[in-house]
Amino acid sequence: MDETRIQDRGEAGTLDPAAAPDERRPAPRARLQGGVGQPIHHDSGPKHVTGEARYIDDEPELPGTLQVFIAMSPRANARILRIDLASVRAAPGVVCALGAGDVPGVNDYSPVFGDDPIFAETHVHYVGQPIFAVAAPDLRTARRAAALARVDYEDAAAPALSIDEALAAADEAGEDLLPAHEMRLGDAGGAIDAAPHVVRGRVETGGQDHFYLEGQIAYAIPGEDGDVLVRSSTQHPSEVQHNVAKALGRPDNAVTIEVRRMGGGFGGKESQPALFAAVCAMVAVRTGRPAKCRLDRDDDMEMTGKRHEMRTDYRVGHDGEGRILGAEFLQAVRCGYSKDLSGAIADRAMFHADNAYDLKAVRIRSRRLKTNTVSNTAFRGFGGPQGMVAIERAMDRIAFDLRLDPLDVRKRNFYAAMGTPTPGTTPYHMAVEDCVVAEIVDELEASSDYRARRAAVASFNAASPVLKKGLALTPVKFGISFTTSHLNQAGALVHVYKDGSVHLNHGGTEMGQGLFTKVAQVVAEEFQIDVSDVKITATTTAKVPNTSATAASSGSDLNGMAAQAAARTIKERLIDYAVGRYDVAREAVEFAPGRVRVGTKEMRFRDLVGEAYLARVSLSSTGFYATPGIAYDRESASGRPFYYFAYGAACSEVVIDTLTGENRLLRADILHDVGRSLNPALDLGQIEGGFIQGMGWLTMEELWWDKAGRLRTHAPSTYKIPTANDRPDDLRVRLWDRGRNPAATIFRSKAVGEPPFMLALSVFSALGDAVLAAGEGRRFPELDAPATPERILAAVRAVREP
Ligand code: MTE
Ligand code: MOS
Repeated sequence: MDETRIQDRGEAGTLDPAAAPDERRPAPRARLQGGVGQPIHHDSGPKHVTGEARYIDDEPELPGTLQVFIAMSPRANARILRIDLASVRAAPGVVCALGAGDVPGVNDYSPVFGDDPIFAETHVHYVGQPIFAVAAPDLRTARRAAALARVDYEDAAAPALSIDEALAAADEAGEDLLPAHEMRLGDAGGAIDAAPHVVRGRVETGGQDHFYLEGQIAYAIPGEDGDVLVRSSTQHPSEVQHNVAKALGRPDNAVTIEVRRMGGGFGGKESQPALFAAVCAMVAVRTGRPAKCRLDRDDDMEMTGKRHEMRTDYRVGHDGEGRILGAEFLQAVRCGYSKDLSGAIADRAMFHADNAYDLKAVRIRSRRLKTNTVSNTAFRGFGGPQGMVAIERAMDRIAFDLRLDPLDVRKRNFYAAMGTPTPGTTPYHMAVEDCVVAEIVDELEASSDYRARRAAVASFNAASPVLKKGLALTPVKFGISFTTSHLNQAGALVHVYKDGSVHLNHGGTEMGQGLFTKVAQVVAEEFQIDVSDVKITATTTAKVPNTSATAASSGSDLNGMAAQAAARTIKERLIDYAVGRYDVAREAVEFAPGRVRVGTKEMRFRDLVGEAYLARVSLSSTGFYATPGIAYDRESASGRPFYYFAYGAACSEVVIDTLTGENRLLRADILHDVGRSLNPALDLGQIEGGFIQGMGWLTMEELWWDKAGRLRTHAPSTYKIPTANDRPDDLRVRLWDRGRNPAATIFRSKAVGEPPFMLALSVFSALGDAVLAAGEGRRFPELDAPATPERILAAVRAVREP
């Protein structure tokens, strides 16, 4: 088991440059290098470390490149009376300035609803909203010139910033930003009213800035006939392509989007990059010069959307032994000024209100609220983390009321295990048929030494008046698939060159998660060639069209399958050729590591390819995949939105200082199910990174707007993200070695990008446990996220009140 410990990652099977293929006399290798399941490093890992990996801003700029500055609204809710850019245009060095009236096509970059103007026209809805852009040979000139603009505003109503203000504004307007939504399973109200015990409460979770290391950036290169190529740091090249074309008033085929890698996306580069790409493209097409827009950190944080802040009111009935009989949730979601992806995000919060628990009878209501703040957007977990918090709070509360260990209450409520004839049903009427959470939790309970540590924490607390420890073990169940079913499709393009080397392309994007490496491993495995013979290439809309965002953790599920399909098509053609040429049965053609057996003959993969080329066999193919068997009817809020669930559990031990509220995660034990791992090294990285990012959200990252609606935490000086120092000294991450996806995914793996984020709920719960101890266990602590030192201190005071 210990070999998968995080400390040991990437040792075995790492690419060995000395193992390069021998040109003349290849010795058959028993094992191909970098096949599926091997813990090889990220294809760009060494380049990330040395700084050689090229991000968009690292690419040499073409002569004549313009730098673009986007001017932002200083008001949160105001009518625009006049925009006068004459002095901006007249400023020395300025090549062009564009406002709403200068957009040749549609002034909108929204993903769905047409409510995100590229440049504000008559009204500004948040501080930071783009109003116009200035292009000059250098950014300083553009920024200075922008200050010369005359924009007259007239303030409208006081901005709605908080959830309470948004609720009041919505009730007054008689309309939410998006219609309220409801999921129902059985009669929750009746079940709770009839239950012998009821807990109720409210919990709020804050927003979160993506803090990708590479900020938003686009570089547009004009072509012939008004065409344009844009390098964009985006998770969603096809949508950027479409929105750029829409802004230019051109068909999609006039625009090509390319992205080799992002320096992190985390959901923040799903819908938003379209703004920067569209602005650059308009400048480039109008001036005939390349144009770059690269945001600095402050502008990025003020201009781009974040995780949705959410408040949940809950009411849960149980039987007196902690078995839940029914649950109700009312979720209020702070969406910002426009719709963006908020509908799907708020839906996913509802889809995860049950987390891993069979709640029997459930009612979930969700309100999607408009605030005069930047439009909130996708962020790792896509609403799921916010959705799970309330039921985890309820578990702790039930345990408190019954004086039970919270882990025992949790265990009494898990969905029935895979294989049961009577699986539990989710609030959206999907049977949970692949549940392995009880097994994982039992194993983690033992390996983390939970019971002994529970006793140790209690005796520590009894002897320690100031420092108090807390412990918690929480589960995760996360649904895999886009809940908008048609998005679950992907395409790939594979070329085999006549020397046997392979060129791989697919619609997925690389943001650090290792997708390109995993898909290359899949193709290497199919052809039985070393992964070093598979060239990983930049994502481009010119090679694979109409792709979905690399999101919902489904990148390798979808693109792995599409690439496998493309490789298989080529393989079939090679087999056809060999069968005809060597007069053998199909079964006699076999791909072994680096070799192909054709009857009694054995040849190198490259030699078979070379022969097939001379015989005029096509060695290039597309591949396509659409997830089977999923369908969800949003009207009735029922169906099977997810192909399968990912499971995991974490046990966290924290310490708090009851004098200052400061806190630390001391130790975390994680056991997570990635099915049959495509690459254990990358999966461990995703689990550790997701967990720490989740901990940041729940404990320290705090967004703060002043009364005028200005975000005052817009730089690392005021916005605190976790650093290497916040990683617990004792972190034990393991892949669940019995994991195997019962759904027919690529090599039976499971998606891993987002689910580990929610393992951090164990940290939040452990902090609550420590506060409980600070009050001698007399009062259940109220705690919202982020559980900053201030909040923890306030909670400690509250539980200590007489
Ligand atoms: N890991 C890194 N290093 N950087 C990222 O930006 N994004 C996360 C996750 N892991 C992200 C990451 C998010 S929000 C998603 S949806 C998935 O990766 C997307 O990639 P996948 O579908 O290939 O897992
Ligand atoms: Mo991830 S939030 O689905 O990009």
